[in-house]
Amino acid sequence: MKKYMPSMPLILVGVIVVLAATLVGVLIFIRNQPPQQRAFEPLVEIKAMEPDSSLWGENFPNQWSTHQKTGTNNVDTTYGGSSAFSWLERDPRQVILFAGYSFSVEYNDDRGHMNALEDVRNTERLNLNPDDPARTPGTCYSCKSSNNPALWDEMGMAEFDKMSFMEIGARIEEPIGCANCHEAGTMRLIVTNPALDEALKAQGRDWTTFTRQEMRTVVCANCHVEYYFKGDGKYLTFPWAKGTNIDQIIAYYDEYDFKDWEYPEAGTPMLKAQHPDYELFTADSTHFKAGVSCSDCHMPYVSEGAAKFSSHDIHSPLLNPEQACGQCHTDSEYAVRRVNLIQEQVATTKQNTEDALIDAINAIKAAAADPNADAELLDQARSLHRKAQFMWDFVSAENSTGFHNPEYALKILAESTNLARQAQMLAAQSVNDASLLKMGTYYQTSEAPTTP
Ligand code: HEC
Ligand code: HEC
Ligand code: HEC
Ligand code: HEC
Repeated sequence: MKKYMPSMPLILVGVIVVLAATLVGVLIFIRNQPPQQRAFEPLVEIKAMEPDSSLWGENFPNQWSTHQKTGTNNVDTTYGGSSAFSWLERDPRQVILFAGYSFSVEYNDDRGHMNALEDVRNTERLNLNPDDPARTPGTCYSCKSSNNPALWDEMGMAEFDKMSFMEIGARIEEPIGCANCHEAGTMRLIVTNPALDEALKAQGRDWTTFTRQEMRTVVCANCHVEYYFKGDGKYLTFPWAKGTNIDQIIAYYDEYDFKDWEYPEAGTPMLKAQHPDYELFTADSTHFKAGVSCSDCHMPYVSEGAAKFSSHDIHSPLLNPEQACGQCHTDSEYAVRRVNLIQEQVATTKQNTEDALIDAINAIKAAAADPNADAELLDQARSLHRKAQFMWDFVSAENSTGFHNPEYALKILAESTNLARQAQMLAAQSVNDASLLKMGTYYQTSEAPTTP
């Protein structure tokens, strides 16, 4: 009996089927890899900390072209968006709240990354005293330029920060760019700002051990954080040594006895919050706890032809919710409706807090003008005013109108309103004058706010 032998063509078909299946498997594997893990041959060699993003762009045209779009974006959303609208015009309460400080002169909404250099050079806040440019420290450039990493490497951040805005400015010509977030060559995400490196170390955290997903948030913390200028050297410092939630940050500032300015006629030592996007988001927000990163919403993957890459056109996710939210939420329209509701709630609550703060300020001013005021009670009122206003500002200066962490934002505002009302009561008590308990004084005053 003849042994059965598969014919040659059948063997061939079998081999082809196996090969094809393997190929499909490999293709699926490749497709599901994050884009940057694909091997690539650089067209041009990029030197370490290269400030000129257009050179990096020769290797990565898609990331470069989307990054450039941040320079011309100008679409606004209800509470955010890309034009530099004035917060002081939108909400004149803030002119009173920042009286005596540069933010009462100009306070505009943020624009896209490519505008950072132009905007910092144009702000009225830094040009208040043209006769004395040395008054503005070089530290103000810290988050505005891709020239910084190389300059910090060359001279050290302490030297950079000691120089005046004019002096160091002569060596800065690029806006935010690739070198602010990436290591040349490997293209991995890195901490480029020495202040972030030091702040993490102070908490015993080593970013070089962070996962890729963690870095997709931490890289934004190079800039989108609360900070202050420490001491005469104006050394850029994140107040994180005790932790990054608001109580820990306030405790840090109180211990260091730091103030940004003194409130005119009230005598309160004030704190200005910067833009604690990272701190608010990472304070156990729903998305943070679920492992979502800043980049998931602000730099979603997009496809152009065969290329899949992270959009570097960073802006409000409400302008492209299908890409920004749709990757996880099947109903992105519903998600956006939730954002609208949350933001409206936070914005309304925030205004009530502002009214309470203004009542407190007016009461403290009146009490401070009375030589017979009980000094101890008045000081207690001031310290509550300081704390209440910083809490309000923490939510107000944060860029998402509460969305990054709705529960926490509303909790902070509730506590701020409570402290502001207590401050008002103590001020009234310090001079035994019940008329200072009047509410809604913002709507009754016509006095012009003081400017520095
Ligand atoms: C779950 C999605 C999501 C995550 C995660 C997220 N954001 Fe946002 N972000 C939003 C939304 C929604 C807004 C509100 C935009 C608006 O009001 O137009 C916003 C607003 C902003 C804005 C202001 C944008 C504007 O148009 O003015 C900045 C800046 C920002 N986020 C930075 C960050 C940073 C930094 C992180 C991480 C620490 C982060 N975001 C994490 C969704 C997200
Ligand atoms: C504000 C920070 C930031 C800047 C500025 C920036 N990138 Fe990125 N880039 C990222 C993040 C975040 C990712 C996602 C990385 C990941 O998922 O590991 C990324 C990813 C990439 C990748 C990997 C492929 C991809 O698209 O996910 C390349 C290549 C890249 N960027 C090139 C550039 C170039 C070129 C520039 C300058 C023109 C630039 N980047 C500027 C933050 C930045
Ligand atoms: C080197 C500092 C720096 C880094 C790193 C950085 N940002 Fe920014 N970002 C800024 C500055 C400064 C502005 C405001 C620029 C202006 O108003 O001219 C800004 C503006 C924005 C805006 C507002 C854009 C608009 O159109 O209104 C968003 C959103 C944003 N950043 C998100 C992010 C996210 C997400 C990351 C991390 C992937 C990140 N940024 C990393 C400094 C930085
Ligand atoms: C990478 C995935 C991811 C992205 C991107 C994402 N989300 Fe989410 N979102 C989640 C997860 C996970 C939860 C938690 C779901 C749960 O616990 O039921 C969530 C919850 C929410 C909730 C409910 C929050 C709460 O506290 O109940 C809202 C609203 C929301 N997301 C809106 C958005 C919007 C708007 C965007 C785009 C700007 C967005 N999300 C982008 C994963 C994501």
